[in-house]
Amino acid sequence: MKSAPKAVRGMDFSQDLIAMGWYHSFEFPDGSVIDGYMPLSVQKERYSRYPIPDDLSGKRILDIGAWDGWFSFEAERHGGQVLAIDYVEVPTFQQVHRRLRSKVDYSVLDFYELPSAGLSKFDIVFFLGVLYHLRHPLLALEIVCGLTNDVAVVESFVIDADTWKEHQDAIPTLEFYETFELGNQYDNWSGLTVACLLAMCRAAGFARVELMFAGGTYAGAACYRKWEPPPAQPASPPPQLLSLSNSRTPGNCFSSRKSEEYIECAFRAPHDHVIRADDLRLEVSGFGTRAIHVQKREDGRWAASFRLPPALDAGWHPVRLRFADTEFGNELRIAVDVPVQRPSQVAVKDIYDGRSWARSEVRIADGGFVSFWVSGLPENRSALDVRVLLGAIPLQITWLGSDEKSGYCQINAKVPPDIAKGTHDFQVRFAGVSSDPQAVQVL
Ligand SMILES: C[S@@+](CC[C@H](N)C(=O)[O-])C[C@H]1O[C@@H](n2cnc3c(N)ncnc32)[C@H](O)[C@@H]1O
Repeated sequence: MKSAPKAVRGMDFSQDLIAMGWYHSFEFPDGSVIDGYMPLSVQKERYSRYPIPDDLSGKRILDIGAWDGWFSFEAERHGGQVLAIDYVEVPTFQQVHRRLRSKVDYSVLDFYELPSAGLSKFDIVFFLGVLYHLRHPLLALEIVCGLTNDVAVVESFVIDADTWKEHQDAIPTLEFYETFELGNQYDNWSGLTVACLLAMCRAAGFARVELMFAGGTYAGAACYRKWEPPPAQPASPPPQLLSLSNSRTPGNCFSSRKSEEYIECAFRAPHDHVIRADDLRLEVSGFGTRAIHVQKREDGRWAASFRLPPALDAGWHPVRLRFADTEFGNELRIAVDVPVQRPSQVAVKDIYDGRSWARSEVRIADGGFVSFWVSGLPENRSALDVRVLLGAIPLQITWLGSDEKSGYCQINAKVPPDIAKGTHDFQVRFAGVSSDPQAVQVL
């Protein structure tokens, strides 16, 4: 049989491990010790790198890939209620568990089974030394983010721990290991640069990512789901949130199952300063989310897009915005996985050409924009559930607003250029309920 190739990266310590029998080291209350591959001093140093409170009473902690379990038992020693998971049953974990009379919960679960395991969120998640073992690193970090309420501690093998500062502004990269390249182990899949580790933690949905350690072959970050507290002395009044919409399809409905959900938000700033993405702090049900893009519009208002925070529960979620140096402003809300409700009736009034504002007509030469007002829609509304018909032709909805004081909401739509000129019936349908037809002239 062909022997496995030598490791190109990292060290193959499998023989040392077999000889020692333990990965972690332990010190028991009676003074006895187990010497594992990793010295106790290193484990303690690793634990102390991260913002883990000394008193963990009342905190729920998840230790992913616990192996012999030193981090789980240490968190329990500090008062935490801990769940440890690993994809194989590790007998040495059970041995220490018995010896300590530990109450740490233990589940044999593969990492990718975590989202469907019925676990609620944890205050602190340990994700130590596991990322590079997983085939889908960005998805993995997103799953970790979705399981975290407060902070996840992410530590991984990296390829430039001692040199990352020299190229920190370069595009982050990831090495892919198809078989035995890293440590001679076929379940090692990737080696990230430090910048890549931090960027992927941010892209996974964490609001704030702080590098806590980089050295040798490892780096570790504290990844927070919440923004830092607002300043005690705000520099100005907060921004005023004007509207929230799904960037993929107009409306205030979002799906927790789709991977590319962005909240497009319009806001008014209290000053004329240039606003950058890093200045913005959007919060959805308390979870911070980073701005991907921000831009001043022609009407002087601002538009910014933010990723939908991962793993939101089904229901309505309050959304607030602040600048880094202000308090939060007003609150609007979005619907996540809220089922469509059938309205009792749908009515349309005031159909205009969106450019000339001429009533009951639309001029193709001006772009074919139509604006109109609709009543009867439920508060959660998505363009996916609204059908706007001009004759038999469906129009593309470009804006679906919220209810105004009149009880009607504005909808903007685009008429395709190939529509026949003349008079057509205009109708709006929502969840099978149609408005009365009205005549609109296409010019
Ligand atoms: C390098 S050890 C890290 C042990 C410990 N967390 C630490 O940092 O000291 C990697 C651990 O992840 C576990 N693991 C690897 N792939 C996994 C997967 N797909 N699901 C769950 N656990 C996994 C391994 O069994 C092992 O216990």
